[in-house]
Order: sequence, then structure tokens, then C-alpha cells
Amino acid sequence: MRRKFLLGNWKMNKTPEEARSFLQGVGPLLSLAESHGVDIGIAPTFLAIPAVLENAPEGLIVASQNVNEHEKGAYTGEVSAPMLRAVGVTHAIIGHSERREYEGETSSRCHEKILALLKEGLVPVYCCGESLETFEKGETASFVERQVREAFAGLSGEEARKVVVAYEPIWAIGTGKSASAEIAEGTILMIRNVLRDMFGEVAEEIRILYGGSVKPGNVRAYMGCPDIDGALVGGASLDPESYRQLLEGMIL
Ligand code: 13P
Repeated sequence: MRRKFLLGNWKMNKTPEEARSFLQGVGPLLSLAESHGVDIGIAPTFLAIPAVLENAPEGLIVASQNVNEHEKGAYTGEVSAPMLRAVGVTHAIIGHSERREYEGETSSRCHEKILALLKEGLVPVYCCGESLETFEKGETASFVERQVREAFAGLSGEEARKVVVAYEPIWAIGTGKSASAEIAEGTILMIRNVLRDMFGEVAEEIRILYGGSVKPGNVRAYMGCPDIDGALVGGASLDPESYRQLLEGMIL
């Protein structure tokens, strides 16, 4: 049985003070999530991570939005996996389409990031997903398959089972135009089949989330799909009331 996972990606939003204020209402959600076997977390900016760690209720997962693949050295503006672990971060989003587009992040670089994170005992949340053009050409499956194969290449089954995948079609991110549950489930099932081809039965343990305009009103439809294990949510995770409704939509 795969545990469900709700992860809020705050992107470049919220000062430490705003993050603290968000957390005031989140305490009661942890027991609700726990009683339904759901992991919940947020990914603040690096700057807000300490404030979130200090004020987070017990059990809230705190993720970074990026990590560098090197341990330390001359990489201006970067943060490493050992540094994340040292402050108490347990998960890191990698390969987000915004970083692929604006920062030149690639799937093979994400492979290095996965190794760096696993070495420190951190959980990689590996994002993949196609552009509108690729979707309209009907090339989603081959494109996303390549992203998955490149990032997971050479991992052992033991390593692969620790990675979380997030399928986020770029055309659905921040557009309000979410992928239908059928489309999301179809691609996520394809991803699981690729992972099965690479790692056998371990694929049944790997959690795969959907992301892209997930809202309180549509999260339930995704969670009704057999291969969708949770949601990676941007805009709708910024407001505590909406975050609560997302969790309720996932479990009720
Ligand atoms: P939205 O939920 O705002 O569409 O963002 C999705 C996303 O990119 C999460 O990583």
C-alpha cells in the first residue's frame, strides 16, 4: 500500500513571517492526515525553511524546491543535500518544469541530484511532464518516458523505491487548465509501467503524484484513480484554508 502524499510547492512566495502565519492553522491537520494515512508537507523557499521548521507541527514534511548535486564548493547561489539534512529538511523537489525552463535543469542532472539526496537519506520528488506542443502532437508518452528513464538510470531497486515522482504537464501548471483525471491517470500508469520495466515489482511501491492546477474542487477526482498517489500543488497550497480543503478532498 502506497501512502498518499499532499505536497504544497510554494514556489517564490511567502516571507518567513508569512510562512509562520500559514502554519498557525495547520496543527490540527496533521492528526487528520495521520489518521487517514496521508503524508502532508510544504516546500517553502530556502529562506523560509528555518521559520517553517521551527514552527511546523510534528509530522509536517518540509521540502526544499531544489538542491545542488555537489556536496560543497564553488557553486554560487546553490544549496547542497548535506546542508538540507543538517537543518532538518527531509525531501527535495527536483526537475520542476520552471527550473527546467528558466534554469536549464535536465533529467540527467536530476539523476545526479537523486544520488546526492539519497546519499543523505533525503527523499527526491522528481518532476516530469510535457509541454502543450508535445501534448498536442500526441508525444506525451515517449517524452515523459525519456525523462523518467534518464533520471532513474542505473539506480538499484532499493534506491528507486525511495523516490517520489510528480507528473506535472506544463500546460496545466498555473493555468487553471488541469489535466482530466483520465489523462493524468493514463500518463501516470505509463510512468509506473516504465518503472516496472526498469525495477520490476518495486514499481508498485513508488509514489507518483499529479500536479497542475490541482484545487480543492478537483483533487478528489485524481485521488479516485488507482495509480495517482497524491498531489503536488502550487497556487492552491498558499492559503491555509485552501490547503485544509485539499487535504479533506484527498481523504473524505
Ligand atoms: P499550480 O498548482 O499552481 O498549477 O502549480 C503546480 C506546480 O507547479 C506544483 O509544483
